[in-house]
Amino acid sequence: MLGTVRAQAERYAGFWCDLRLRTMLRTLGSCTVSPTSPVDNAFDAAERETWRGRAQAYRDTYALLCAATVPVLLDAVTAGPGTRLLDVGTGTGSVALAAVERGARVVAVDAEPSMVELTAARLPASAPALVAALPVLPFADASFDAVTANFVLNHVGRPRSALEETRRVLRPGGVLAATIWATPAEVGQRLVPEALAAAGAVRPSDLPVLAAEDDFERSAAGLAGLVRSAGFVDVAVRTERWVHVVARDDWWAGPAAGIAAVGRTLVAQPEKVRRAAYERFVEAGTALVGPDGLLRLPHAAFLVTGRAPAGG
Ligand SMILES: C[S@@+](CC[C@H](N)C(=O)[O-])C[C@H]1O[C@@H](n2cnc3c(N)ncnc32)[C@H](O)[C@@H]1O
Repeated sequence: MLGTVRAQAERYAGFWCDLRLRTMLRTLGSCTVSPTSPVDNAFDAAERETWRGRAQAYRDTYALLCAATVPVLLDAVTAGPGTRLLDVGTGTGSVALAAVERGARVVAVDAEPSMVELTAARLPASAPALVAALPVLPFADASFDAVTANFVLNHVGRPRSALEETRRVLRPGGVLAATIWATPAEVGQRLVPEALAAAGAVRPSDLPVLAAEDDFERSAAGLAGLVRSAGFVDVAVRTERWVHVVARDDWWAGPAAGIAAVGRTLVAQPEKVRRAAYERFVEAGTALVGPDGLLRLPHAAFLVTGRAPAGG
């Protein structure tokens, strides 16, 4: 895998002809990028399990929901021709692909090999997709003008360390833009979790929560505080709202494929509870169905931006 990563990065360096990337290649020569990406806590281990082999299922379900914030993320980092942009936790590459279309010089990374494989197939050769897991990125200091992380910080075991690492790879004055799900959760965010709760579903014991010392308050202020504590300046948070329109069974297909904590919870239930949860979901969803028969699911996300200090 490291050989593949090096080959991708070499193509990339050839395209850029950039001294910093030569440094990045030297870094790759000694880094620990592996097909499975190392984990250092129980939360990360559970996350790896959650995403393992699920790239196609993610692309066909939740990726369509998460794509809503792509334009605002790219606007927030003023992605345009020549911007050196790193998309962390790229998933199936929605942000990376849109950034390429804006003329940015893109690198995409994800902890899950099936995501990287799928994203690599969507991106041009000039935009490598690599297996790498926060909080360790295989790039030299100050390699990028912009870092994006669309719904990733809520999936990492050490969010502060992950953010510090994104600051390290940003040049002084470079911009981070990241999203997480907003609180209080909108109706669309609550639909499946509430159906599970009403059916008596029990959270699986192998789904850990963040260690107290790694956690942060899930509010705009809590997110801003986290990003500031990782050394960013000019930190701002705003709420993005949109309505996701989707067929009822397509929406159920995401958790039914075991995606994210809600999916892990659903698939861990006995058949009887799963069936009851689906019935509750259908019942509660009736009020959200539009004239075309599709669900209209309001969602909200916090978008945080921050700048790496000019002094490095
Ligand atoms: C909700 S998906 C978001 C994907 C993508 N950003 C999008 O907009 O569709 C979360 C992604 O984060 C990745 N991920 C989870 N933990 C990670 C880590 N420690 N480092 C890098 N990626 C991680 C998962 O593999 C998954 O692809």
